[in-house]
Amino acid sequence: MRYVIIGTPTRISRIGLGTWQFGSREWGYGQDYAGREARAIVRRALELGVTLFDTAEIYGFGRSERILGEAIGEDRESAFLATKIFPLLPVAPVVEQRAVASANRLGTRRLDLYQVHQPNPLVRDGTIMRGMRALQRVGLVGEVGVSNYSLDRWRAAEQALGSRVLSNQVRYSLVDRSPERDLLPFAESTGHLVIAYSPLAQGLLSGTYDRSHRPGNRLRAASPLFLPENLDRAGDLIATLREVAGAHSATPAQIALAWVIHRPPVVAIPGASSVAQLESNVAAADIELKEDEYQVLCEAATRFRPVTGPAVVPGLLRARFS
Ligand SMILES: NC(=O)c1ccc[n+]([C@@H]2O[C@H](COP(=O)([O-])OP(=O)(O)OC[C@H]3O[C@@H](n4cnc5c(N)ncnc54)[C@H](OP(=O)(O)O)[C@@H]3O)[C@@H](O)[C@H]2O)c1
Repeated sequence: MRYVIIGTPTRISRIGLGTWQFGSREWGYGQDYAGREARAIVRRALELGVTLFDTAEIYGFGRSERILGEAIGEDRESAFLATKIFPLLPVAPVVEQRAVASANRLGTRRLDLYQVHQPNPLVRDGTIMRGMRALQRVGLVGEVGVSNYSLDRWRAAEQALGSRVLSNQVRYSLVDRSPERDLLPFAESTGHLVIAYSPLAQGLLSGTYDRSHRPGNRLRAASPLFLPENLDRAGDLIATLREVAGAHSATPAQIALAWVIHRPPVVAIPGASSVAQLESNVAAADIELKEDEYQVLCEAATRFRPVTGPAVVPGLLRARFS
């Protein structure tokens, strides 16, 4: 495992574990996964040196936090625990009360990273950051982070907090490179972190799926990315991933992750539906892509033009009712 050294008491693994899948209906992995496999995934992650674990109060309405906290158990000090508040009512007392509730579900007295899940479109961040400051003062929160923030809003949040807002958790993968415009350069030049979510494009980049084998769960069935036409269009990108993977005796998923963390300010938090996937994802931290391999992947990503916008509606309806 490789780590980011960024002034936190626990170092942050370049590959972490996302736990939206734990106990959430959208992913549909079922009872056995929530009750047994999820715990085994966390235990194996700890053994392999993963420190970064990401959850949120809304994942499975608190179930993800509970499952994660129980699985980490005695090994709390080896983990860098990150959770998120959903800023429906972003005023300081609510923030404080919600942080305590998350900490209780996680079975911890410290949230290493407390993130605002998404910007509240109506309320600026002054009030929420007042709550965050109070939580840091009493030691319940280590670092403050944001998620799905633009660069301007990330900076404004930092100004409101009066100290660093360590990270911005955003969608970043070979199928969505928008953070490269300004978030990555900002993080790289100022000692901040970009936490890449959906780094495998929810499994698309593993090459497991195609037109005749689409994922069954309702989250991905409703995702434009997994429409038959877009799966066809992703064929060239998957083929390029396979080609690079061949040179590393790796899988397309591992190369997709190695690509995401190629640039220094990025760490990735792939989810996993099995221990085997987790092991494979962790091993990706040790793959060093050559500069020409990185570029070939960037070019294949640029060629991938999925159908988007209103044009996807007929396809989604067909997929829903077929
Ligand atoms: N802040 C936010 O707004 C936000 C939004 C989304 C996610 N997140 C966080 O980011 C985490 C990861 O994102 P995500 O779950 O959306 O997408 P992801 O990590 O890109 O995809 C995860 C899925 O890919 C498949 N997969 C994982 N490893 C694999 C491997 N080695 N080989 C083949 N398939 C593999 C699994 O699905 P199958 O096996 O079923 O194919 C798994 O459930 C979440 O758990 C959550 O913590 C945050």
